[in-house]
Amino acid sequence: MKKTIRDFDLSNKRVIIRCDLNVPLKNGVILDDNRIKKSIDTINYAIEKGAKVIILSHLGRIKSKEDKINNSLYPISIRLSELLKRNVIFVNETRGLVLEKTINNMNPGDVVLVENTRYEDFPLKKESNNDKELGKYWASLADIFINDAFATSHRMHASNVGIASNIPSGIGFLVEKEINILGDFLSSPLRPYVVIMGGAKISDKIKVIDKLVNKADYILLGGGIANTFLKAKGNDLKESIYDAENIDFAKEMLNKYPNKIVLPVDGYGSLAYQDGLDVVYNDTNDISSGIMLLDIGPKTIELFSKYINNAKTVFWNGPLGVSEFKNFEYGTKQVCELLKQSSAKVVIGGGDSAASVIRFGYDKFFDHISTGGGASLEFIEGKKLPGIEIIEEK
Ligand code: 3PG
Repeated sequence: MKKTIRDFDLSNKRVIIRCDLNVPLKNGVILDDNRIKKSIDTINYAIEKGAKVIILSHLGRIKSKEDKINNSLYPISIRLSELLKRNVIFVNETRGLVLEKTINNMNPGDVVLVENTRYEDFPLKKESNNDKELGKYWASLADIFINDAFATSHRMHASNVGIASNIPSGIGFLVEKEINILGDFLSSPLRPYVVIMGGAKISDKIKVIDKLVNKADYILLGGGIANTFLKAKGNDLKESIYDAENIDFAKEMLNKYPNKIVLPVDGYGSLAYQDGLDVVYNDTNDISSGIMLLDIGPKTIELFSKYINNAKTVFWNGPLGVSEFKNFEYGTKQVCELLKQSSAKVVIGGGDSAASVIRFGYDKFFDHISTGGGASLEFIEGKKLPGIEIIEEK
């Protein structure tokens, strides 16, 4: 059993809480604050116990100077401060004198939010490569490390594994809840057990299918992952996005498990990755020239309904189309509706799927909405998550 935040005397201690505040932002406006809300219990507990609370999180992926400008945690600090009903001191750097002085001047109950940990990724990928010196430096700023970023726990980064390798560590309430619920729910799923997968992070997720296919009875695919499989089948996808590097893998999966992997038979698309253009309807084996598929269509929903209606357990990760575009929310909404009608136990995983389900008002119909995307997939696949493994045992 892992140590939890309850196992530490936090009074007057500098406590780093690694949260996952990686929420969708558009022009500095937060589109969905679910992950921030889910981080509040652990932070409040630490405040009540008299800790000096130092919060670390990443936001987006930082590969350029411009990415830095667009992915500051500043807007998150404002929302966090509203939800905590107290001032959150935002430090706009990831290391240096200002950060160190601010922490030295903290009083028990103060909360500091440090700038996006992935600023350290440009240009040297120090955060994502778990740079030893960076992990040590962050650890030197605190007495105790709490990992409450379930959604980042499948990453071996300086801000989780790096820090936990250097100071006493435990998990927060969100991580504890996620691993308990996902563990119980999926250790012996009632069958048929159906996994639905979509979303944008194709290369991250596609390999998980290899393992999931042995656990689930059926895997229904949408989005870029489905496109990769359609391409592997020989469909001419025109301008649709797929993962060229994983075509051979998709072919192998289709050969091995022809009856388990279910692909879209139709969809909606347009001439560009954009909302508001003309919407074109196509069968997936007859896509018009210039078109990129951006959603699944009604025949696919009918096909998927045969599996979903019989299912006793469903795990869903990733929207089935570009659900943040009005024109391409159809498939994701229809699957929400099918799941609402079904008697199956339903767990939703993933930042984008959770955001869509909440935005469409379906969250109350499902058993658990996990904050983890890739992390929840890897967890149910049975993989050990490095961000949790590194935490001390009781
Ligand atoms: C997520 O959104 O799944 C987590 O915040 C992890 O983000 P990442 O895939 O960019 O590591």
